Amino acid sequence: MTTARVPTAAPATSQAAVRDVYARALRDVRISVTDRCNFRCTYCMPRASFGPGHRFLGREQKLTAAEIVRLGALLVHLGVRKIRLTGGEPLLRSDLDEIVRGLAATSVADLALTTNGSLLERWAARLRQAGLHRVTVSLDTLDPAVHARMSDSGVSIETVLGGIRAATDAGFAPIKLNAVIRRGVNDDSVEPLVDFARAHLHTLRFIEYMDVGESNDWSRADVVPAAEIVARVSARYPLQPPARDDPADVAQTYRFADGAGEVGIIASVTQPFCGACTRLRVSADGRLHTCLFASAGTDIRSALRSGDDGELERVLRETWTARTDRYSEQRGEHIPALRRVEMSYLGG
Ligand code: GTP
Ligand code: 5AD
Ligand code: SF4
Ligand code: SF4
Repeated sequence: MTTARVPTAAPATSQAAVRDVYARALRDVRISVTDRCNFRCTYCMPRASFGPGHRFLGREQKLTAAEIVRLGALLVHLGVRKIRLTGGEPLLRSDLDEIVRGLAATSVADLALTTNGSLLERWAARLRQAGLHRVTVSLDTLDPAVHARMSDSGVSIETVLGGIRAATDAGFAPIKLNAVIRRGVNDDSVEPLVDFARAHLHTLRFIEYMDVGESNDWSRADVVPAAEIVARVSARYPLQPPARDDPADVAQTYRFADGAGEVGIIASVTQPFCGACTRLRVSADGRLHTCLFASAGTDIRSALRSGDDGELERVLRETWTARTDRYSEQRGEHIPALRRVEMSYLGG
């Protein structure tokens, strides 16, 4: 089995990092390749809002593979070290391998993908061959009934687990697993998920349930705080003190004291990490969003379709240098109540 490539050094860029108003560098980009998904997770795309009447982006609205690759290459030139492909569900996009191949050729240091795993069995080997470095799979529970309720999809948990196995067989290692924990819904899945991840050498990260978008009816009472999750995990498996491997990482990692790997916690609600946030998000229709909780984006598609690289670079630089976002740190303060765009559109 080959080991996934891990970012080791800054790429050869011709200029200094582009920095926002708080001096945060533009280092990571999350590109959504589609706003569609075959799941209807209650915390992300509840059926009441994303039912048959929901209008998804049309084919002509979405960036083409060539446009995504051109944008990615320019972002790498501007100092981006990590590109993550997201959705919706990115594996619904039939030309995903073309996108991966093109982005891998930009020599970006880290090229990753976040998926719900349902189509991974079909895709894993092709994506590995196309040059993808890393895969993260959303896995909120191992309980079939809880999975059915949370994903509201008809896709069995066995199919998702088969996808994770296929990714392992294709040579992705370690595979990251993301679990959003919601009080009273899947909080009893914490320990079984840890057992599973340790047994299979996967890196599990727990995510605090967040108030993204406008449709998930979020309430603070539904959040299981990171401290509570850590206490439960450490009662089962003693943990070493936490560390953030890179200041820009969203997860704090805790190594198991017995040396059997690590577990991560993404505590955006109780321990916000905006101060070191270096992430730009690009929606499938080519809008730049400088925060997961953004209420609007900046069009880059027009420049991709009619402008030269100079024009593209100008839009990217202007968007990033004007950035003042720090939503998670301001949560609870009196900030203007603008409508937030949905996570499935924004790319998570
Ligand atoms: P690694 O490169 O493996 O560290 O991946 P990642 O953690 O950047 O990507 P992943 O898609 O696994 O992100 C995990 C989750 O963390 C996301 O789905 C979000 O729920 C949350 N998250 C990621 N970035 C941000 C961010 O900038 N702000 C907030 N509030 N949450 C974020
Ligand atoms: N809160 C926290 N995480 C979320 N995700 C989707 N919606 C939410 C939310 N409201 C996670 C998914 C997936 C990633 C893309 O985002 O579970 O792991
Ligand atoms: Fe789809 Fe992921 Fe949102 Fe679930 S969390 S509905 S799998 S995009
Ligand atoms: Fe970055 Fe916005 Fe998340 Fe803060 S809330 S970490 S600024 S994406």
